[in-house]
Amino acid sequence: MATEAISYERMHLNLKKLGLSSVCEVVDSALETAAGQEQSFVEFLDGLLEAEVSARNERTCETKIKMARFPFKKGIESFDFSFQPSIDRKQIRDVLTLRFLSEGVNIVLLGPPGVGKTHLAVAIGMAACQAGHTAYFTTADELVAMLVKSYSTKTFDAKMSFFGRMSLLIIDEVGYLPLDRQASNLLFQLISKRYENGNSVILTSNRGYGEWGSMFSDAVIASAVLDRLLHRSVTINIRGESYRLKDKRKAGIIGATKPLTAPSGTETELGIAS
Ligand SMILES: Nc1ncnc2c1ncn2[C@@H]1O[C@H](COP(=O)(O)OP(=O)(O)O)[C@@H](O)[C@H]1O
Ligand SMILES: [Mg+2]
Repeated sequence: MATEAISYERMHLNLKKLGLSSVCEVVDSALETAAGQEQSFVEFLDGLLEAEVSARNERTCETKIKMARFPFKKGIESFDFSFQPSIDRKQIRDVLTLRFLSEGVNIVLLGPPGVGKTHLAVAIGMAACQAGHTAYFTTADELVAMLVKSYSTKTFDAKMSFFGRMSLLIIDEVGYLPLDRQASNLLFQLISKRYENGNSVILTSNRGYGEWGSMFSDAVIASAVLDRLLHRSVTINIRGESYRLKDKRKAGIIGATKPLTAPSGTETELGIAS
């Protein structure tokens, strides 16, 4: 075999051994391009390494999105802001810079059913994963059930460390299930841990803050949880029509809904309550 052919085979073998699978895939066409365009050695090598790095980033991002367990994969580009004029696009843009994650700010999305709370929460979560953060999506009911089960199977510490260290925890549909004393206490421990670690939470709810309190068995725990959640938080209050029902409403099958009243809360010009 000619030396060039030996080198070529060994190159492919070594690329595989080194785990440079993307370089391995593109190297043949890159060699042809380089010969045709008289690329410099640096440009050639740079092109190959870029291909490997961007493929790896994409894989990491896909893994993070899978681990986050979003109920669907929808980004902000598929959100129709013109349908929901009560949403301040600038505020959403600001949230999507992900500055809130480094500042440990929580985001609370409030509004009636179908106005896009879960969609926005997922879009923000996906943006966080794309930026290399870890995220986890769950509903309040599911989260409480997991905490209670872990307590009875003596895996509570492991669950707490999992939920506590995640960069972003999304808790969907807060404020329905009445919690007993143990469940309230376990949820309090998780919220406290994230608060102390400076890790953000996104919460969505159809109910105002006033009603959240009644889900806890005890008024003291309720105010301790709400204090921590709302200490540094942004409230996005969506007052509008259900996107799910828009076609039916257009066709006159159902009437218009009454908008949800805004929960009271002090907010700074940044929209951060403190
Ligand atoms: N403004 C919007 N633009 C595009 N799709 C929307 C919009 N609002 C809601 N949807 C879609 O309508 C459905 C219901 O929205 P969802 O986020 O689940 O509402 P909520 O959580 O407020 O009940 C989802 O499929 C969502 O993607
Ligand atoms: Mg929802």
